[in-house]
This record gives sequence, structure tokens and C-alpha cells, in this order.
Amino acid sequence: MVNKLTILKLGGSVITKKSKALTFNRNSVEKLSKVIKKFNEPLIIVHGAGSFGHYYAKRYGISSKPTRSTKHVVKIRDSMQSLNRKLVEIFHQNGVDTFSFSPIYMYHNRKIPNIWKNTLQKSISFDLVPMTFGDVLLGNNGFYIHSGDLIVYDLCKLLNPKRVIFASNIDGIYQNLDDNSSLVPIIKNNKNNLKFSKINYDVTGGIKTKITQSLKIANLGIEVQITNGLNSKNLIKALKGEHIGTLFIGDKH
Ligand SMILES: Nc1ncnc2c1ncn2[C@@H]1O[C@H](COP(=O)(O)OP(=O)(O)OP(=O)(O)O)[C@@H](O)[C@H]1O
Ligand SMILES: [Mg+2]
Repeated sequence: MVNKLTILKLGGSVITKKSKALTFNRNSVEKLSKVIKKFNEPLIIVHGAGSFGHYYAKRYGISSKPTRSTKHVVKIRDSMQSLNRKLVEIFHQNGVDTFSFSPIYMYHNRKIPNIWKNTLQKSISFDLVPMTFGDVLLGNNGFYIHSGDLIVYDLCKLLNPKRVIFASNIDGIYQNLDDNSSLVPIIKNNKNNLKFSKINYDVTGGIKTKITQSLKIANLGIEVQITNGLNSKNLIKALKGEHIGTLFIGDKH
């Protein structure tokens, strides 16, 4: 069962309108839930924060550095709960039964303990789709943000899935985002000299973090692709293993 597993990261840029504070993208989430219903293979979903979590995190200057500013932490966490709630509801309405939880339950000392392997595998065997999200975690020195992209890597180490798909609002990684003929089909290392455009709400490193995490995952020997989650046809192809966006190739390949 485990080696048939796919981990799908639904980027905040697909489930929210990232350039507009606190704006949910209902239309896109409806479409995503239908794609996932059709996919019908063992799956774990991690979703991003988009214009919910990132908005408050940016407003209050909270990042992966620990903070004791609990008033602000409550705001960020609350916004992530409400974003997650919306997703869970729409997924359920479209026949996708999620097993959803904040990652705060899953992490101990910045790691996911092995016991979670069993919990996640069991819930998948009951035909549930485990779902978690980028959120604020509690460390020894206060609260810190742990992004969805990092959770995906931690889950890969725990579960060794066959494939990881990062779904964002772009077809893949571009050499230069302003030139739409510059999609990079394959990335093998961090030496591509890519040009990154600045985006409004992102406190976790945006596309740079995604590239770093994707390369780390590929180095575990797992297939990783970044593709467009707003395009249902592309997403289903990527989930089935077709090369449609940017593919990451690890050292072991
Ligand atoms: N060279 C590039 N190639 C592709 N995307 C780029 C590039 N430079 C900047 N970007 C931006 O990165 C964004 C995707 O990263 P971002 O972290 O915002 O998305 P996400 O992970 O879907 O959202 P979240 O972090 O909320 O989960 C794209 O919307 C794009 O505007
Ligand atoms: Mg991001």
C-alpha cells in the first residue's frame, strides 16, 4: 500500500486568491475535489496558507523564527482552521472523505514521530484522505511557522511515497516568469540560474522553498513534479505520473 502512495500539496495559490487578503477560491477547490475523487488511489493532501495564513503572518511579522506573540499566533491559526474547514466541507460534498488535522498534533521536537506512520496508513486503508496544512507549531522557544512544503518533505521521509505533486497556480518553474515560453521541464540541481518574481503574501520563501524541498525529496529517490492545480486535466495527468510540468531529478537517478 505504502509504495502506491501519492502526496499532493495544494498550494495556497490554488485554493485561495493569493494576491487578495483572506479570499477563498471556491471554484478552484470544487474542481480539485472532483479531480481527487476521480484519482481514487492512496493519497495524502497537504495544503498551503495562501492569502489566509500568509496574510496574518506577514501583517504581524511572524515567520519560521520562533515568537511568543500569542495574540498573533491565535489569529494565524484561526485563519488556517477556517481555510481548512472550507476545504474539508467542499471535499466531503463531492465524495472525498478527508481525515483532517492541524500538524501541531503530529510534530514533536520538530519531527513527526514514527507512530504517525501507522495512523496515516490505517486511515488510508479506511479509504480516507489524510489532510494537513502549513500552520503555527509550538517549539521550545515559542511558536513558529512550518510551511506545507516542509511538511511534505517530512511526510516523505516517514512514508516513502511513490510520487509527490506540488500544485500551484503556474504550469511549473519558469526560467523567467515574465516569459511564458521559458518553462523548465527538468530540474536536477539548484544551479539553473532562475529568475524569481516577488509575490504579495508569502512568509515561507515562496517558490524558492518549493524548489529546495522538491530537490530534497527527489534526492530521497521519490518522483516530484510541480504542476498547475488550476488546470484539472494537467493535474490528473501529473497525479497519474505523466510529465506535464517541472520534474525534479535527484542524485540517485
Ligand atoms: N521563476 C518562477 N517560476 C515559477 N513561479 C514563480 C517564479 N518566480 C516566482 N514565482 C511565483 O511563485 C508562486 C508559487 O509559489 P507560492 O509559494 O506563492 O505558491 P503556493 O506554494 O501555491 O502557495 P502557499 O505557499 O500559500 O501554499 C507563483 O504564483 C509565481 O508567481
Ligand atoms: Mg509557498
